[in-house]
Amino acid sequence: MSSSHTLDNIFSNNRRWAEEVQRDHPDFFPRLEKQQSPEYLWIGCADSRVSANEIMGLLPGEVFVHRNVANVVVHTDFNCLSVLQYAIDVLQVKHVIVTGHYGCGGVRAALENRSMGLIDNWLRNIKDVYFKHENLFTHLSADESAELLCEINVREQVGNVCHTTILQDAWKRGQAVTVHGLIYSLHDGILNDLDVNVSGMQDIPSIYRMYSDAEMLARLPSQRRRLQQSAQVGSQQQ
Ligand code: CO
Repeated sequence: MSSSHTLDNIFSNNRRWAEEVQRDHPDFFPRLEKQQSPEYLWIGCADSRVSANEIMGLLPGEVFVHRNVANVVVHTDFNCLSVLQYAIDVLQVKHVIVTGHYGCGGVRAALENRSMGLIDNWLRNIKDVYFKHENLFTHLSADESAELLCEINVREQVGNVCHTTILQDAWKRGQAVTVHGLIYSLHDGILNDLDVNVSGMQDIPSIYRMYSDAEMLARLPSQRRRLQQSAQVGSQQQ
């Protein structure tokens, strides 16, 4: 009774939307009610301008979504890890899409030296990313630094997804799942591929691997082929 009048707009929008969907696609809700079988898990920023379904042109039921400030994947964040585990183990998504966006307020705040309260501790994760790659920012303006950090942050978070036991266990049992890094532009609405596509243990640094090459060779024909191919490429480069 206290605030319902302030949500009138939302309820009227919802009724209109539900009526339109029922009119145009009568089987839509009965089908969704029975199950969801998304092929994608989206890990993106909580920013109100970066909505997964709208940007990718997907309907409800087609993408599983996790969002937080500045699309960060922290090793001990049970919220994000639970979403990731459910998406991969139960929903069997084929793609995990980490999406950053230029003009990210969280990333920009991480570049500054001011306190905004509790969130400072969350943004510390992005300061860590900056500090790890500090040499890349030497001659950049504040705007250029912010844009580059948005991109590097996505790459780092793709790595963090891949380093989880969840992804590595999936790859070990032969499940085909690829982790991608994308960046979205608020300026023109375009989603760009950062060309970080990880589809197996062979693509992650050895220190993060939970299983030895020997264990993978023993268990999985497809991984065996990939490991042998990457070993051959490595020896050719030497
Ligand atoms: Co953001």
